[in-house]
Amino acid sequence: MLYCSDHPLVRHKLAILRDSTTECKKFRELIRELAMLLCYEAMRDLDLVNVTVQTPMGIAAGQKLRTRVGLIPILRAGLGMVVGALEMIPTAQVWHIGLYRDERTLRPVEYYNNLPIEPTVQLALILDPMLATGGSAVATVDILKRWGSERIKFLGLIAAPEGIQRLQSAHPDVDIHVAAIDERLNEHGYIVPGLGDAGDRQFGTG
Ligand code: PRP
Ligand code: URA
Repeated sequence: MLYCSDHPLVRHKLAILRDSTTECKKFRELIRELAMLLCYEAMRDLDLVNVTVQTPMGIAAGQKLRTRVGLIPILRAGLGMVVGALEMIPTAQVWHIGLYRDERTLRPVEYYNNLPIEPTVQLALILDPMLATGGSAVATVDILKRWGSERIKFLGLIAAPEGIQRLQSAHPDVDIHVAAIDERLNEHGYIVPGLGDAGDRQFGTG
Protein backbone atom coordinates (compact mmCIF):
# COMPACT_ATOMS: atom_id res chain seq x y z
CA MET A 1 0.00 0.00 0.00
CA LEU A 2 1.05 3.58 -0.65
CA TYR A 3 0.43 6.18 2.06
CA CYS A 4 1.04 9.87 1.51
CA SER A 5 0.64 11.94 4.65
CA ASP A 6 -1.90 14.74 4.52
CA HIS A 7 -1.07 16.01 7.99
CA PRO A 8 -0.83 19.82 8.10
CA LEU A 9 2.36 19.71 10.20
CA VAL A 10 3.98 17.44 7.63
CA ARG A 11 2.93 19.73 4.76
CA HIS A 12 4.23 22.80 6.61
CA LYS A 13 7.61 21.30 7.46
CA LEU A 14 8.05 19.82 3.99
CA ALA A 15 7.60 23.22 2.35
CA ILE A 16 10.42 24.64 4.48
CA LEU A 17 12.59 21.58 3.81
CA ARG A 18 12.22 21.99 0.03
CA ASP A 19 13.13 25.69 0.11
CA SER A 20 16.60 26.14 -1.36
CA THR A 21 17.34 28.92 1.17
CA THR A 22 16.88 26.56 4.13
CA GLU A 23 20.32 26.13 5.68
CA CYS A 24 21.96 22.85 6.70
CA LYS A 25 21.18 23.01 10.42
CA LYS A 26 17.49 23.73 9.85
CA PHE A 27 17.37 21.12 7.09
CA ARG A 28 18.65 18.42 9.47
CA GLU A 29 16.17 19.51 12.14
CA LEU A 30 13.29 19.21 9.66
CA ILE A 31 14.42 15.79 8.43
CA ARG A 32 14.40 14.61 12.05
CA GLU A 33 10.96 16.09 12.77
CA LEU A 34 9.42 14.78 9.56
CA ALA A 35 10.84 11.31 10.24
CA MET A 36 9.22 11.44 13.68
CA LEU A 37 5.79 12.43 12.32
CA LEU A 38 5.83 9.93 9.46
CA CYS A 39 7.10 7.17 11.72
CA TYR A 40 4.18 7.84 14.06
CA GLU A 41 1.76 7.44 11.15
CA ALA A 42 3.50 4.38 9.67
CA MET A 43 3.55 2.48 12.96
CA ARG A 44 -0.17 2.55 13.62
CA ASP A 45 -0.56 -1.18 12.90
CA LEU A 46 2.13 -2.38 15.33
CA ASP A 47 1.15 -5.31 17.54
CA LEU A 48 0.58 -4.70 21.23
CA VAL A 49 0.60 -6.83 24.34
CA ASN A 50 -1.62 -6.18 27.37
CA VAL A 51 0.11 -5.13 30.59
CA THR A 52 -0.85 -3.74 33.97
CA VAL A 53 1.03 -0.92 35.62
CA GLN A 54 1.00 0.38 39.15
CA THR A 55 0.14 4.09 39.16
CA PRO A 56 0.43 6.23 42.31
CA MET A 57 -3.37 5.76 42.64
CA GLY A 58 -3.91 2.11 41.75
CA ILE A 59 -3.54 -0.43 39.01
CA ALA A 60 -4.11 0.52 35.37
CA ALA A 61 -4.55 -1.72 32.37
CA GLY A 62 -2.29 -0.73 29.51
CA GLN A 63 -0.56 -1.95 26.40
CA LYS A 64 3.05 -2.11 25.26
CA LEU A 65 4.68 -2.78 21.93
CA ARG A 66 5.11 -6.42 21.05
CA THR A 67 6.73 -6.03 17.60
CA ARG A 68 10.54 -5.85 17.55
CA VAL A 69 11.33 -3.04 15.12
CA GLY A 70 14.54 -2.49 13.17
CA LEU A 71 15.39 0.85 11.57
CA ILE A 72 17.37 0.47 8.35
CA PRO A 73 18.74 3.85 7.23
CA ILE A 74 20.21 3.92 3.73
CA LEU A 75 23.48 5.86 3.94
CA ARG A 76 23.99 8.65 3.73
CA ALA A 77 20.73 10.55 3.49
CA GLY A 78 18.71 8.10 5.61
CA LEU A 79 20.97 8.81 8.59
CA GLY A 80 19.19 12.05 9.41
CA MET A 81 15.91 10.21 9.85
CA VAL A 82 17.25 7.83 12.50
CA VAL A 83 17.08 10.16 15.49
CA GLY A 84 13.47 11.13 14.77
CA ALA A 85 12.39 7.52 14.32
CA LEU A 86 14.25 6.52 17.50
CA GLU A 87 12.43 9.22 19.44
CA MET A 88 9.20 7.42 18.47
CA ILE A 89 10.54 3.87 18.97
CA PRO A 90 13.42 4.08 21.47
CA THR A 91 13.70 0.29 21.64
CA ALA A 92 14.32 -0.10 17.90
CA GLN A 93 17.53 -1.68 16.66
CA VAL A 94 19.42 0.28 13.98
CA TRP A 95 21.16 -1.55 11.13
CA HIS A 96 22.91 0.43 8.39
CA ILE A 97 22.99 -0.21 4.65
CA GLY A 98 25.40 1.88 2.55
CA LEU A 99 24.41 2.49 -1.07
CA TYR A 100 25.28 5.21 -3.54
CA ARG A 101 23.85 5.79 -6.98
CA ASP A 102 26.31 5.47 -9.82
CA GLU A 103 26.06 8.93 -11.46
CA ARG A 104 26.05 7.53 -14.98
CA THR A 105 23.88 4.42 -14.72
CA LEU A 106 21.85 5.61 -11.66
CA ARG A 107 22.12 2.05 -10.37
CA PRO A 108 22.74 1.55 -6.64
CA VAL A 109 26.18 0.34 -5.55
CA GLU A 110 26.40 -1.36 -2.14
CA TYR A 111 29.40 -0.37 -0.01
CA TYR A 112 28.29 -1.15 3.55
CA ASN A 113 26.02 -3.59 5.32
CA ASN A 114 26.23 -4.41 9.02
CA LEU A 115 23.27 -6.78 9.25
CA PRO A 116 24.02 -9.76 11.50
CA ILE A 117 23.66 -13.27 10.06
CA GLU A 118 20.24 -14.05 11.51
CA PRO A 119 17.28 -11.63 11.37
CA THR A 120 16.78 -10.00 14.77
CA VAL A 121 13.64 -7.91 14.14
CA GLN A 122 10.05 -8.60 13.16
CA LEU A 123 9.51 -5.38 11.25
CA ALA A 124 12.20 -3.66 9.19
CA LEU A 125 11.59 0.04 8.55
CA ILE A 126 13.76 1.39 5.72
CA LEU A 127 14.62 5.08 6.12
CA ASP A 128 15.57 7.15 3.09
CA PRO A 129 14.23 10.64 2.34
CA MET A 130 14.25 10.21 -1.45
CA LEU A 131 12.55 7.54 -3.59
CA ALA A 132 13.72 8.59 -7.06
CA THR A 133 14.25 5.79 -9.62
CA GLY A 134 13.54 3.34 -6.80
CA GLY A 135 16.78 1.46 -7.43
CA SER A 136 18.17 2.01 -3.91
CA ALA A 137 14.90 1.07 -2.21
CA VAL A 138 14.47 -2.10 -4.29
CA ALA A 139 18.09 -3.11 -3.63
CA THR A 140 17.60 -2.58 0.12
CA VAL A 141 14.42 -4.65 0.20
CA ASP A 142 16.27 -7.37 -1.75
CA ILE A 143 19.01 -7.33 0.91
CA LEU A 144 16.50 -7.43 3.76
CA LYS A 145 14.52 -10.28 2.22
CA ARG A 146 17.72 -12.30 1.71
CA TRP A 147 18.46 -11.60 5.39
CA GLY A 148 15.10 -13.15 6.28
CA SER A 149 12.89 -10.10 6.89
CA GLU A 150 9.24 -11.00 6.48
CA ARG A 151 7.73 -7.60 7.18
CA ILE A 152 9.23 -4.49 5.61
CA LYS A 153 8.05 -0.89 5.28
CA PHE A 154 9.66 1.99 3.41
CA LEU A 155 9.60 5.42 5.05
CA GLY A 156 10.56 8.32 2.80
CA LEU A 157 9.87 12.02 2.45
CA ILE A 158 9.56 12.67 -1.29
CA ALA A 159 8.81 10.09 -3.97
CA ALA A 160 8.75 10.24 -7.76
CA PRO A 161 6.00 8.27 -9.52
CA GLU A 162 8.74 6.25 -11.28
CA GLY A 163 10.23 5.12 -7.95
CA ILE A 164 6.88 4.21 -6.46
CA GLN A 165 6.01 2.15 -9.50
CA ARG A 166 9.35 0.34 -9.45
CA LEU A 167 9.22 -0.47 -5.73
CA GLN A 168 5.59 -1.56 -5.89
CA SER A 169 6.11 -3.85 -8.85
CA ALA A 170 9.30 -5.42 -7.43
CA HIS A 171 7.95 -5.73 -3.87
CA PRO A 172 4.15 -5.32 -3.71
CA ASP A 173 4.16 -6.49 -0.07
CA VAL A 174 6.20 -3.47 1.11
CA ASP A 175 4.15 -0.53 2.40
CA ILE A 176 5.41 2.87 1.26
CA HIS A 177 4.96 5.91 3.54
CA VAL A 178 5.91 9.34 2.21
CA ALA A 179 5.17 13.00 2.77
CA ALA A 180 4.79 13.90 -0.92
CA ILE A 181 4.56 12.43 -4.39
CA ASP A 182 6.20 14.76 -6.87
CA GLU A 183 5.82 15.25 -10.62
CA ARG A 184 8.70 13.35 -12.22
CA LEU A 185 12.41 12.64 -12.48
CA ASN A 186 14.68 14.84 -14.56
CA GLU A 187 17.28 13.50 -17.02
CA HIS A 188 19.81 13.09 -14.15
CA GLY A 189 17.44 11.03 -12.01
CA TYR A 190 16.63 13.90 -9.63
CA ILE A 191 13.11 14.43 -8.36
CA VAL A 192 11.34 17.52 -9.71
CA PRO A 193 10.53 19.72 -7.88
CA GLY A 194 11.98 17.61 -5.02
CA LEU A 195 14.51 19.28 -2.76
CA GLY A 196 17.83 18.67 -4.53
CA ASP A 197 20.39 16.28 -3.10
CA ALA A 198 19.20 15.16 0.33
CA GLY A 199 22.62 13.87 1.40
CA ASP A 200 24.49 17.01 0.36
CA ARG A 201 21.93 19.32 1.96
CA GLN A 202 22.14 17.49 5.30
CA PHE A 203 25.89 17.20 5.44
CA GLY A 204 26.99 20.41 3.71
CA THR A 205 28.77 18.57 0.92
CA GLY A 206 27.00 20.08 -2.11
C1 PRP B 1 20.11 9.28 -2.73
C2 PRP B 1 18.98 9.02 -1.76
C3 PRP B 1 18.60 7.60 -2.08
C4 PRP B 1 18.86 7.52 -3.55
C5 PRP B 1 17.53 7.57 -4.24
O1 PRP B 1 21.28 8.74 -2.31
O2 PRP B 1 19.33 9.19 -0.43
O3 PRP B 1 19.35 6.64 -1.38
O4 PRP B 1 19.64 8.65 -3.91
O5 PRP B 1 17.68 7.40 -5.58
P1 PRP B 1 17.11 6.15 -6.36
O6 PRP B 1 15.69 5.98 -5.91
O7 PRP B 1 17.23 6.57 -7.79
O8 PRP B 1 17.96 4.97 -6.05
P2 PRP B 1 22.68 8.99 -3.06
O9 PRP B 1 22.96 7.86 -4.00
O10 PRP B 1 22.69 10.36 -3.64
O11 PRP B 1 23.75 8.83 -1.92
P3 PRP B 1 23.96 9.76 -0.61
O12 PRP B 1 22.76 9.59 0.26
O13 PRP B 1 25.20 9.15 -0.02
O14 PRP B 1 24.17 11.18 -1.05
N1 URA C 1 18.65 11.60 -4.49
C1 URA C 1 18.48 12.82 -3.97
O1 URA C 1 19.11 13.17 -2.95
N2 URA C 1 17.62 13.67 -4.56
C2 URA C 1 16.93 13.33 -5.66
O2 URA C 1 16.14 14.16 -6.16
C3 URA C 1 17.11 12.05 -6.19
C4 URA C 1 17.97 11.20 -5.59
